Amino acid sequence: MPHIVDVSKNRLIGKKIIHLDKVDSTSNYIKRALEAREIIEGTVVRAGIQTKGKGRAGRVWESPPGGLWFSVLLHPRLPLEEMALLSLVFAAGICRGLDKYIEQECKIKWPNDIYLDQKKLAGILLETSSLEEDVYLIVGVGINVNVNRDELGSLNNRAVSLSEYSSADINKDSILTTVLEYMEIYYSDYQQKGFGEILEEFKELCLHLGKRVKIECSSRTVSGTNVGIDSRGRLLVDNGIDIELISAGDVKVL
Ligand code: BTN
Repeated sequence: MPHIVDVSKNRLIGKKIIHLDKVDSTSNYIKRALEAREIIEGTVVRAGIQTKGKGRAGRVWESPPGGLWFSVLLHPRLPLEEMALLSLVFAAGICRGLDKYIEQECKIKWPNDIYLDQKKLAGILLETSSLEEDVYLIVGVGINVNVNRDELGSLNNRAVSLSEYSSADINKDSILTTVLEYMEIYYSDYQQKGFGEILEEFKELCLHLGKRVKIECSSRTVSGTNVGIDSRGRLLVDNGIDIELISAGDVKVL
């Protein structure tokens, strides 16, 4: 039986939190609940473990105990192009939220991987789901809080847990509360003021701006220097001949 908490009437993200011990994927849970019209906007679904955790680009997301695995249902009334920027908006917010728990600053690998000391600390998966005329957004967040590396499969030497960098007692409930607060702040700022300020902050947090990168896009590989990020959230890469605009892909920092 899920344990349901009603947090506050004044905020959107996390106004209701559903705790599950085990689920296939918190994002799939939300999708099913949405189709059954049994879930409201702002609900967070959190699970102790996921048996079929999903990562970006169809990858598996290992979700053993010790991690914070949750998804949020949103109903942004935004054109699709502006909706896509939420990927960067939430990355900046979550990065800032996690900074509260460690002395070192977290960084972002475009578009939305959170890194600590060159290793992956957290990932974000945005999926849309349509119900009649309405497009909903399911924001799935996975944070390695205190995960046993042996349970991370092939990622084990490229991933890091928050507990390895914090002397404070790492409490998943407190991290969830902080991260949700930051997601709310950045989501609301984006809707009220647009992307400008968040883009500047994103650039400061970006792991590879000004560095050499190799990007695996669906049909090609682009190598060069990452010279900027534009107002549509695209990566600008100087390949030595011209500037390429990248909308999607996997960045490797060289
Ligand atoms: C990535 O970096 O590839 C994105 C990982 C997203 C993982 C989270 S864990 C909670 C939510 N449920 C899922 O199945 N995936 C996301």
